[in-house]
Amino acid sequence: MVCLSQISVDNVNKQNMLHANKPILLGFNEIKLEVVNSTNLFLQELLSKTEPPEGTIVITDYQTHGKGQIGRKWESERGVNLLCSILLKPTFLDQKHLFFLNIITALAIADVVEKFTRATCQVKWPNDVMVNDRKISGILIQNVLAGSQVKNTIIGIGLNVNQTTTPTDQAISIIHLAGEKISLKDVKATLLHRLESYYLTLKRGELQQIKQLYLRKLYRRDTEHKFLNIKENETFTGTITGVDEDGKLMIKTGNNTTKWTLNEVKYI
Ligand code: BTN
Repeated sequence: MVCLSQISVDNVNKQNMLHANKPILLGFNEIKLEVVNSTNLFLQELLSKTEPPEGTIVITDYQTHGKGQIGRKWESERGVNLLCSILLKPTFLDQKHLFFLNIITALAIADVVEKFTRATCQVKWPNDVMVNDRKISGILIQNVLAGSQVKNTIIGIGLNVNQTTTPTDQAISIIHLAGEKISLKDVKATLLHRLESYYLTLKRGELQQIKQLYLRKLYRRDTEHKFLNIKENETFTGTITGVDEDGKLMIKTGNNTTKWTLNEVKYI
């Protein structure tokens, strides 16, 4: 079953703890495509026919049908941005902790952006990486489950690197912040390195440490903002206080804290 990842927080089995520091060398098996419909779709199809090793990366210059979250499209100019999908096999992770895969990916991307620029990133729940209120990267995670275990995870990443034109004024690229063209190879290498490091931390079961890093970067945390309750089509004012065990966004209004999934609430 392939389903969009949503939720979660801690627990690791002992056997995996023994191997928790073993590098898995993300990206050592690279599939480079000039054009593809979507790197996520390509990896999904590959998984249905063969058994690519953990760490496989599918990377492309251009996607004809790039997929975004909640059925949206992901559009990117040819050859200027990082468009890739990485295969993880987090069999050590309980289904209730799936949200940690979103967290570590967002943290790794934030590290990359901060390394190549002087910017400070924030993570807009659940996993958009933002700089100065503008989106620089999107993540689409698809999990293949076997019972309650995560068998395969496809981490789809779109990171704006050298695109100078932005489709909306809500987007930004590394080039805008760095003031010069950045090597996509270097960006990819740094991303794989950072993601591997967070993934091994997750494997060691250091979930609270990872969550703290995420909360520190959480966009609009601890300040009052307006939101839309999508189902009721009503706006309300509240303060983001964190994410719960399932990865739901916690918003405090008066003395009440409510928990929201992605299709229930919108930032205004
Ligand atoms: C979002 O913010 O809506 C998520 C965007 C994810 C886009 C990336 S680009 C590489 C990978 N392949 C896809 O089709 N989507 C993801």
